[in-house]
Amino acid sequence: MRLFFALWPDALSRARLAEAAAALRLKDGRAVPPQNYHLTLAFIGEVAKSQVAVLQQIGCAQRASGFTITIDAYEYWAEPQVVVAVAREPPPALAQLWMQLRENLMPHHAALNLSRRQPPLRAHVTLARKVAQAPVPQAMSPFCWSARSFSLVRSDTSGAHAVYTVVDTWPLLDERAKP
Ligand code: 2AM
Repeated sequence: MRLFFALWPDALSRARLAEAAAALRLKDGRAVPPQNYHLTLAFIGEVAKSQVAVLQQIGCAQRASGFTITIDAYEYWAEPQVVVAVAREPPPALAQLWMQLRENLMPHHAALNLSRRQPPLRAHVTLARKVAQAPVPQAMSPFCWSARSFSLVRSDTSGAHAVYTVVDTWPLLDERAKP
């Protein structure tokens, strides 16, 4: 099965993302269905069923603070042909969770057949795929997404649209409780 760690938006953030996508009025490409919106923290790829437990242990072992992400711009990425909503300034706690997951996955690289490539964090939510031409640049009305948990998610890409199923979810620590 194909797995990844991600932030799964709450209903309000999902609705704001859907509004942002609609405001683009894209004529090209395939809109991502709002129920599929997510922010990928670590892409794992194909793993055997027996390896899910290791990933659940890694998820469970994270001790990261919750955070608020300001989604504030659209970007068009020509090579994967996607339009994404980005956080131009990801909060430090997001960068920390992202880094912590990578560090904890490191000892399992060979077993999970993970790439050792370390692409920089580009905090984004994909809004549309197969967009062949850059859309007219447009400003976004920024909005805040309060991340209180993160998930291990299964991706089934055999149909017309990917189907994502949350396998497990872990809470992030209360950011208000920080000293
Ligand atoms: P995305 O976050 O830019 O949309 C599940 O497949 C998620 O993992 C997708 O949302 C996708 O990108 C991301 N993903 C898919 N293949 C990937 C890969 N080879 N490397 C990194 N991320 C990948």
